Amino acid sequence: MSTAEKHVSKRGCLRSRRSRIILAVVAFIVILAAIIPAVVVTTLRKNSMGPKSKVFVPLYVYPAPGAWSPLEEVISAHPNVNFTVVINPGSGPGPNALPDANYTQEIPKLAAHDNVRLLGYVHTTYATRNISLVRKDVETYSAWPTASSNPDLAVQGIFFDETPQQYSANSLAYLQNLTDLTKGLNGFGSVPFVVHNPGGVPDSRYLSTADSTVVFEETYGTFQERHGAKLFTAIPESNRTQLCAVIHSVPNTVEGSKLRGLVKQVRSVADEVFITHLSSDYYASFGTKWAEFVDLMAA
Ligand SMILES: *[C@@H]1O[C@H](CO)[C@@H](O)[C@H](O)[C@H]1NC(C)=O
Ligand SMILES: *[C@@H]1O[C@H](CO)[C@@H](O)[C@H](O)[C@H]1NC(C)=O
Ligand SMILES: *[C@@H]1O[C@H](CO)[C@@H](O)[C@H](O)[C@H]1NC(C)=O
Ligand SMILES: *[C@@H]1O[C@H](CO)[C@@H](O)[C@H](O)[C@H]1NC(C)=O
Ligand SMILES: *[C@@H]1O[C@H](CO)[C@@H](O)[C@H](O)[C@H]1NC(C)=O
Repeated sequence: MSTAEKHVSKRGCLRSRRSRIILAVVAFIVILAAIIPAVVVTTLRKNSMGPKSKVFVPLYVYPAPGAWSPLEEVISAHPNVNFTVVINPGSGPGPNALPDANYTQEIPKLAAHDNVRLLGYVHTTYATRNISLVRKDVETYSAWPTASSNPDLAVQGIFFDETPQQYSANSLAYLQNLTDLTKGLNGFGSVPFVVHNPGGVPDSRYLSTADSTVVFEETYGTFQERHGAKLFTAIPESNRTQLCAVIHSVPNTVEGSKLRGLVKQVRSVADEVFITHLSSDYYASFGTKWAEFVDLMAA
């Protein structure tokens, strides 16, 4: 055999080995293509977190430079998660037309994100607070964009704290009055949003006066004792789209798969969810597992 022939035969040998390898790879891919979707579907089903809910954030954190960064970070990291964030400059909008310079600087940064809805905090003292003063607070928030000449210094609705649980016709009229006001004002964007916080399950007749109602604001221990999720599904004439859950004082041992189980359970019953491991001043800072919680809300 000449050296040239040897080269040819070697090349031929290489070529056929290569084509055998290619055939094997193609066969392998075909088999994988058949198997993978089934595996993925099974895995997704097993790990499914159920319906997506919004991350609800009572942001009673003073916006000293950098103080809102833990929130900014998760908002940017999770564009597919919606956040409802309650701003509270001074147990309400504060005494002036605009909050202080730290607020006027930080609020527009949050508002710039498409996945963020900001709400202004207003308390009603269980529908006993002078309604004229409550209405004034609501109007102050709605005037922020005009008072500051900054369309991004704005909230998209109101979080009414301390709303009643017990029914009375007067209280219902009081709350309806405030909802009508909020929905009718310019300055809250195209779809003003109203949240009530009775802190527990209220009379069902109140539910329709708000877009969302905090029906649970308690410790993790209480959530377990009262079989938490059942509380929600037992509320007459309600469904998860109008319910908000706030669970605090979650023990540090509730992490990983345990935290995952909790988030999944709460997502199944409430469209707005806040869970924190902080056991005092729950809303004044971010807990150690804040980022883990938000990751689970994104899953
Ligand atoms: C903004 O926050 C910083 C840090 O808390 C504080 O020193 C400063 O006085 C605040 N600015 C205004 C205008 O309140
Ligand atoms: C998030 O908000 C956007 C805009 O309002 C909406 O289209 C989308 O359905 C929301 N997603 C979830 C999971 O709530
Ligand atoms: C409620 O507040 C308004 C405005 O400050 C005041 O005129 C009115 O007298 C108050 N009503 C009551 C019952 O205190
Ligand atoms: C809402 O409350 C205000 C203040 O008391 C009152 O002037 C107004 O008439 C009320 N509106 C309705 C629709 O009841
Ligand atoms: C759940 O409540 C929302 C808001 O009130 C309503 O639009 C929706 O139709 C309700 N869904 C069911 C299944 O009752």
